[in-house]
Amino acid sequence: MHTIDIRQGQPDDIASIEKLYPAAFPEEDLLPLVRQLLAEEPGILSLVAEAGDAMAGHILFTLCAITGSDARAALLAPLGVAPQWQRKGIGSSLIREGLNRLKRDGVAYVYVLGDPAYYGRSGFRTETGVTPPYPLPEEYRDAWQSLSLGSVLPPDHGTLVLPKVWMQPALWGP
Ligand SMILES: CC(C)(COP(=O)(O)OP(=O)(O)OC[C@H]1O[C@@H](n2cnc3c(N)ncnc32)[C@H](O)[C@@H]1OP(=O)(O)O)[C@@H](O)C(=O)NCCC(=O)NCCS
Repeated sequence: MHTIDIRQGQPDDIASIEKLYPAAFPEEDLLPLVRQLLAEEPGILSLVAEAGDAMAGHILFTLCAITGSDARAALLAPLGVAPQWQRKGIGSSLIREGLNRLKRDGVAYVYVLGDPAYYGRSGFRTETGVTPPYPLPEEYRDAWQSLSLGSVLPPDHGTLVLPKVWMQPALWGP
């Protein structure tokens, strides 16, 4: 078993990232989104998990705002772990390291649209106050989650204000 190193993504990680996502998500082409998000630097946080020379996982957070609030927020997406490295704690470590760095940078709240069974393990809870930029279908309601990085509860209303990359309804529906 290799030691897993988590570090900030670099421009020359792109070749490994372009292999990782199709392997982790064989039925979904996330690469156009990932490429556009990586171009949003410094408005994103990109972390990679390395096992020796291999890229085992990658996570992206997009920095954003909430209407009616001065708080800084972030959206977690996507997160991918290469199939041979799944269920070894790498996804959880990428989330934990991302949350630590965002907290250090003054981000107060993190949002995610994902499986509550998975993200609940990292402390995310279903969010009903702040909404995504597009209404979610009923079956996604439990999947919209948030986590406070401080002791203050997230605002009880508002909408995430995200860069243009995220303003595509298809990213928020089945
Ligand atoms: C989902 C994913 C990011 C998790 O990363 P990981 O490094 O494999 O997960 P961890 O090792 O941190 O945590 C593993 C635990 O989470 C749970 N888990 C893993 N994948 C899960 C999933 N899709 N849904 C619910 N729970 C899941 C398991 O219970 C597992 O615990 P166990 O091994 O004790 O049963 C990774 O498996 C992956 O990239 N999968 C393919 C793509 C995907 O479905 N991504 C969804 C996130 S956007």
